[in-house]
Amino acid sequence: MGVGPWVGDLPSGDHWDPELLTGGDRRNVEDRYRYWRLEAIVADLDTRRHPVHVAVENWGHDFNIGSVIRTANAFNVAAFHIVGRRRWNRRGAMVTDRYQHEVHHPTVADLVAWAAGAGGAEGTEDGGRGIPLIGIDNLPGSRPLETHELPRACVLVFGQEGPGLTEEVRASCEVILHITQFGSTRSINAGAAAAIAMHAWVRQHADLG
Ligand SMILES: C[S@@+](CC[C@H](N)C(=O)[O-])C[C@H]1O[C@@H](n2cnc3c(N)ncnc32)[C@H](O)[C@@H]1O
Repeated sequence: MGVGPWVGDLPSGDHWDPELLTGGDRRNVEDRYRYWRLEAIVADLDTRRHPVHVAVENWGHDFNIGSVIRTANAFNVAAFHIVGRRRWNRRGAMVTDRYQHEVHHPTVADLVAWAAGAGGAEGTEDGGRGIPLIGIDNLPGSRPLETHELPRACVLVFGQEGPGLTEEVRASCEVILHITQFGSTRSINAGAAAAIAMHAWVRQHADLG
């Protein structure tokens, strides 16, 4: 995977990484970012991050988190949030976490407090009211994601394999949305569910032009 050393005269500019230019770039990045310094890529992504956040409860070191984070990178979400244990299983993220903003919340209350104070300044599109938590889980009383109008600025919250969203998070969510299923399994893989939910946001709000 990747490209070898730069061919021809070396380009000049702050975003180029001298080591990658001379040694080649085998990172998991889009071609337009080849040979760019990591910090330059993050700065470029920062100029057009989407106002959707992703939060995962991490009480049991769920190995699916890496997959959630990788998808969050692909859709350029504002930040990913880990609730509970700070250490999360990075396998599956394929180093994509380095290009994003990670926020750790030791407790659900910390996430709730953060969301209440987040968003733009008062008077802006998502300002002054905080950002709502949108729970994603198939639970009694949940509504179908397929027909729900997602807020532009929001935090999509995912549970972990086994228990799903904790009671505490459920109580703090503006709404709980399920991905409608048609088979016999109780649920789908948490990483797959996160990808579907993020893409639902993309279909409603992203600039596809
Ligand atoms: C194994 S599932 C949780 C358990 C599920 N609530 C149950 O009754 O067995 C783990 C996580 O994957 C996500 N998930 C899986 N299937 C889902 C679905 N059909 N709709 C929404 N979220 C789902 C949710 O975030 C959930 O917390």
